[in-house]
Amino acid sequence: FRDLLFRLLACLLSAAPFPAQAESPIVIKFSHVVAEDTPKGLGAAFFAKRAAELTKGQVKVEVYPNSTLYKDKEELEALQLGAVQVVAPSLAKFGLLGVREFEIYDLPYIFDSYEELHKVTLGPIGKSLFRRLEPKGIRGLAYWDNGFKSFSANTPIHMPDELKGKKMRIQPSKVLEAQMLALNAIPRVMAFSEVYQALKMGIVDGTENPISNLYTQKMFEVQSHLTLTEHGYLGYAVIVDKKFWEALPTDIRGQLEMAMKEATDYTNRIAKEKNDSDLEALRRSGKIEIHVPTPEQRRAFKKVLVPVHKEMASRIGDDLLQSVYRETG
Ligand code: LMR
Repeated sequence: FRDLLFRLLACLLSAAPFPAQAESPIVIKFSHVVAEDTPKGLGAAFFAKRAAELTKGQVKVEVYPNSTLYKDKEELEALQLGAVQVVAPSLAKFGLLGVREFEIYDLPYIFDSYEELHKVTLGPIGKSLFRRLEPKGIRGLAYWDNGFKSFSANTPIHMPDELKGKKMRIQPSKVLEAQMLALNAIPRVMAFSEVYQALKMGIVDGTENPISNLYTQKMFEVQSHLTLTEHGYLGYAVIVDKKFWEALPTDIRGQLEMAMKEATDYTNRIAKEKNDSDLEALRRSGKIEIHVPTPEQRRAFKKVLVPVHKEMASRIGDDLLQSVYRETG
């Protein structure tokens, strides 16, 4: 009998999962669509580094930039299927999850500065929007900035009517669609990874981007004119698979939350610097004509685009819109 007991114990021990698992780290896949040298790319790398340090190697965050793993829509599906654990889509893509309220961030001229925007993302409104993700099995961890978007095309865009009839690539947001329609342009939804080729082949005539995206995707090589309209915001929500997150050991989850907090402070600190330095690099490249709108031109764009707020109020929620107005003064 002792012999049998021994053999049973030996068998159980060899099959026991713990010793082996304790040594191999928990792997977290973080997929995104932009270049490494962008606010989001740098933020993701920073998070991976701090996650490894704070968990003393118990967690390994693998970052897949530049749509190498998934494109815009696929990365959201992959998160819901558990194929990746972290993604940070732009706020303009949350309509794909059936959560329309995030499109509030796409409204043209709703924020005049990063300071105004942070009153929303870092305040109660930002938190309440995250709660809308929970029924989808998703947890919102943080908002990361990129910057303010400007229009580019292959013809000058000094006044709003110069975009009339132009095919403009947009992210999948109804607010962005309404914005382009207000300009009498033709909106075309397209994944980020396809924009460079589409511009090059003339499938679309122009687009809107924060400078860091225009620069790192080399779109300036296939667009001759850029006007610094800075008419809308583009930023991200870092989101995780809720089930995966809640199943993590408490100490590890706490360390990852700390790594995320540090990565968020870092990203939001460097986002503007990165866009500013990329604008300088763009100027030095001499490959694109950069126009700074006059106050009168700015007023003309605002006159056409601000009415989009009212038009979209019922879609995103008038109460939400009013509370953002109140928060940003
Ligand atoms: C875009 O599709 O233009 C952006 O959302 C890409 C990004 O992640 O910044």
